[in-house]
Amino acid sequence: MTGGAGFIGSHVAEAYVARGWSVTIVDNLSSGRRENLPKGADFVELDIRNGGLRDLFRERGGFELVNHHAAQIDVRVSVERPRIDADINIGGLLNVLEAARESGTRRVVFVSSGGVVYGDARDRPIPETAPKRPESPYGVSKLVGELYLRCFRLLHGLDYAALRYSNVYGPRQDPHGEAGVVAIFSSQLLKGEPIKIFGSGEQTRDYVFVEDVVSANMLVSEAELGDGCELDDRAFNVGTSRETSVNELARKLMEAAGREAVIERAAARAGELEWSCLACDKLKKLGWEAAVDISEGLARTYQWIAETSG
Ligand SMILES: NC(=O)c1ccc[n+]([C@@H]2O[C@H](COP(=O)([O-])OP(=O)(O)OC[C@H]3O[C@@H](n4cnc5c(N)ncnc54)[C@H](O)[C@@H]3O)[C@@H](O)[C@H]2O)c1
Repeated sequence: MTGGAGFIGSHVAEAYVARGWSVTIVDNLSSGRRENLPKGADFVELDIRNGGLRDLFRERGGFELVNHHAAQIDVRVSVERPRIDADINIGGLLNVLEAARESGTRRVVFVSSGGVVYGDARDRPIPETAPKRPESPYGVSKLVGELYLRCFRLLHGLDYAALRYSNVYGPRQDPHGEAGVVAIFSSQLLKGEPIKIFGSGEQTRDYVFVEDVVSANMLVSEAELGDGCELDDRAFNVGTSRETSVNELARKLMEAAGREAVIERAAARAGELEWSCLACDKLKKLGWEAAVDISEGLARTYQWIAETSG
């Protein structure tokens, strides 16, 4: 498991340990934290770009399943420093895939992003088959990752699933991820500061609770995924297929927190998508569905932020 000290990866690693699997976590702690690491998992502090990764796979006799969550996750960083983004998200992935291939890994679970690979989509909610028109280097690097996986499957028979997450929120999230707004609003509420909304606040996102993302990972780690070899055959959107506007999110969070805050309006941010929402019928056919309602998820997230903040 890579990125297992991070927000989402640590929850997935925890579920793998709970399932009784022997788990090794590789993470360089660039944004992940030691305290996120689940008990019972083995931890190796290492950069996924490091040549030592392939030695690690060899020394441990290979891993049956590789779940790859480690990544440069910040869209703005990718715009300012596209080479760093590609270095980690493409170069690092290739290092992981080489190690997996050499050591006989059965399947790689790769984390892509439904929030960025489609770009400005037309079908609402967006199915996996929608055109891929990423508008940031981060979106490009995630899509290229999927293309490499498809290629490794064709060339070397390395099996994989790509999960295209919507905006994931929950305990352990920080303000930098794709649902960072939940953490930002929560901390503004806690400090009694105004909640700052950019633009009209009517822009929407598909917020999915981390526990539902974990169950999607569990499913594609084990399920029979079929023989199709087109890019979208092995890609699965992970979201709720429900849109929540930023205004609604602020209101629901205030309800969850039992606190009121003044809403402060700021100029819209350039390049922000007006809406984002994923169709998740493919995963539903495999038996998965997002189960946590947004009000409950926000309450649990706010509670965690309140308990752990300074
Ligand atoms: N949070 C979201 O809403 C969201 C949405 C779509 C996709 N994703 C994807 O989910 C995955 C996890 O994201 P997250 O939100 O949990 O972020 P995160 O920053 O909490 O987790 C990323 C982890 O990867 C580690 N890492 C980063 N670069 C590394 C490197 N070079 N070598 C080793 N470890 C490295 C970090 O230390 C961290 O523990 C990422 O691949 C991200 O692109 C997240």
